[in-house]
Amino acid sequence: MQEQPSSPARAVGVGPWDINLAGIGIALPDKRLHNNDLTAWMDTSDEWIFERTGIRERRLGGTTSGLSIEAARAALADAQVDASTIDQVILATTSPDYMLPGTAPAVAHELGLTCGAFDLQAACSGWVYGLVVANGLIQQGMNRILVIGAETLERMTDYHDRGTGILFGNGAGAAIVDRDTTGAGRLLSWDLGSNGKHIHILYSEHGGKMKMDGREVFRQAVTVMQESATASLERAGLTVDDIDLVIPHQANVRIVEAAWKRIGFSMEKTAMVLEHTGNTSAASIPLALHDALANDRIAKGDKVLFLGFGAGMTWASAIVEWNGTSG
Ligand code: COA
Repeated sequence: MQEQPSSPARAVGVGPWDINLAGIGIALPDKRLHNNDLTAWMDTSDEWIFERTGIRERRLGGTTSGLSIEAARAALADAQVDASTIDQVILATTSPDYMLPGTAPAVAHELGLTCGAFDLQAACSGWVYGLVVANGLIQQGMNRILVIGAETLERMTDYHDRGTGILFGNGAGAAIVDRDTTGAGRLLSWDLGSNGKHIHILYSEHGGKMKMDGREVFRQAVTVMQESATASLERAGLTVDDIDLVIPHQANVRIVEAAWKRIGFSMEKTAMVLEHTGNTSAASIPLALHDALANDRIAKGDKVLFLGFGAGMTWASAIVEWNGTSG
């Protein structure tokens, strides 16, 4: 029998690919729930919550489709492109409007689109998963993809629970991801992962509220953030010092600090918005990206690391060389 050639080594997640984040938009509902508000019905304090999480307030109200549409319109305006040029809508969410259908088709419809539209459920890692999927579709011939992260976690949060009630809020962030024809904007590497062994450290039954083993989530989060960041850095042939800005999932500033101690990143090179948003799951990374751009923290040519983790557990990281919007 003829010997089979050994399969070639797979260079999974190793770029570069020519893409550009051409526009970013966000949406936050007006209603604010401050830590002090929670003390009216919960045995807690602003000091305790802020000290343990870095959160002071979170936003309530809106719908996942409504927030998505607002963020998408802002991203289109930022990129100065018409909605009709979008080839695909990817909506990362863990709190869709309905069990069935997905929320993405409604968002596409409001934007006047009949292109492909699907929800992506990878919990708080969802937007980074969406970015990687968008890159894959662009490599298959698409030119422009709308990647949204949007949540109304209020609907699955028990604000009387001292573990979860202090953390979660609503919000949305959207990015226009384009094929880059200039050679300047590039996805350098990515890493996606999951470990379903940990489903029950953070989950919600159909129609129920979230249940969480906070300590275990904290512990696992620090580990997977280190592993995923290291994988993306190695695949891009970069070191910690080469990264100009890290945009982590905004769950808890203490988780980020503990992970950074292991990896070697500094808080000065980190984008954080959770003090005023709480944990917005799939929306949190584009919300922090928008804030970083608004504060001129990203320049053309910068290397930006997105680093997500969440229920599942899932994790996702990606390194982008920036050629996009200036915010
Ligand atoms: N306010 C005041 N005190 C609280 C409290 C609250 N909201 N929640 C718990 N406590 C108290 C407990 O009663 C306990 O007191 P004791 O030592 O006198 O018994 C003490 O604080 C420690 O309780 P514990 O439940 O172990 O809290 P913790 O230190 O683990 O902090 C979290 C709780 C939720 C802040 C923390 O576990 C966390 O952030 N985990 C990660 C969660 C997360 O990010 N999830 C989303 C991932 S995508």
